[in-house]
Amino acid sequence: MERVEFRVEEVNEADIPHVIRINEAVLPENYPYYFYEMLYKNYPKAFLVAKVGGKVVGYVMCRVEHSLHLDGFLPGFMKKGHIVSIAILPGYRRRGIGTELMRRALESLKNVYGCREVYLEVRVSNKAAIEFYKNLGFRIDHTIRHYYKDGEDAYVMVKEL
Ligand SMILES: CC(C)(COP(=O)(O)OP(=O)(O)OC[C@H]1O[C@@H](n2cnc3c(N)ncnc32)[C@H](O)[C@@H]1OP(=O)(O)O)[C@@H](O)C(=O)NCCC(=O)NCCS
Repeated sequence: MERVEFRVEEVNEADIPHVIRINEAVLPENYPYYFYEMLYKNYPKAFLVAKVGGKVVGYVMCRVEHSLHLDGFLPGFMKKGHIVSIAILPGYRRRGIGTELMRRALESLKNVYGCREVYLEVRVSNKAAIEFYKNLGFRIDHTIRHYYKDGEDAYVMVKEL
């Protein structure tokens, strides 16, 4: 595969329409503008874009959730990172761009936002993404039946940070 020079950086407001265009071209899970804006304002260090010559060719966006867990016998809150969405334009795949976006997002979720674990949902038919996540150290934890609007099941994949 031909090498391509790319840069990964934190999203800025002007990038958001490009992120939305990629999301809508690539994935059936789409969101209103305010949702992107909310992620950008709340978790800017884990909302990243990849650029080739100034053009946005991929993104990853995340949020942080709090879940109750037992720390020994004491209940406590654990911060979990949630990979909300990642997509790379078709012509730029298999060049390590997705891996670099995820590497940087996972680093921020751990070191900036204090997450101890990260999870995501993926369509059970999305073999490419499942391989991609496995390659990054995620494992399939469980299945959510009929998670998607069209009725498809999701795997929940998890990685400890
Ligand atoms: C999944 C996705 C983000 C991967 O991005 P990418 O930039 O192509 O990924 P990378 O080049 O970093 O791939 C890293 C490794 O993941 C695995 N992988 C990636 N794409 C794969 C595919 N189509 N088939 C099998 N394995 C794949 C490989 O192990 C690959 O390493 P290799 O190229 O050395 O074999 C990209 O395919 C995409 O945007 N898909 C459409 C959107 C999507 O499905 N998002 C996830 C929704 S949950």
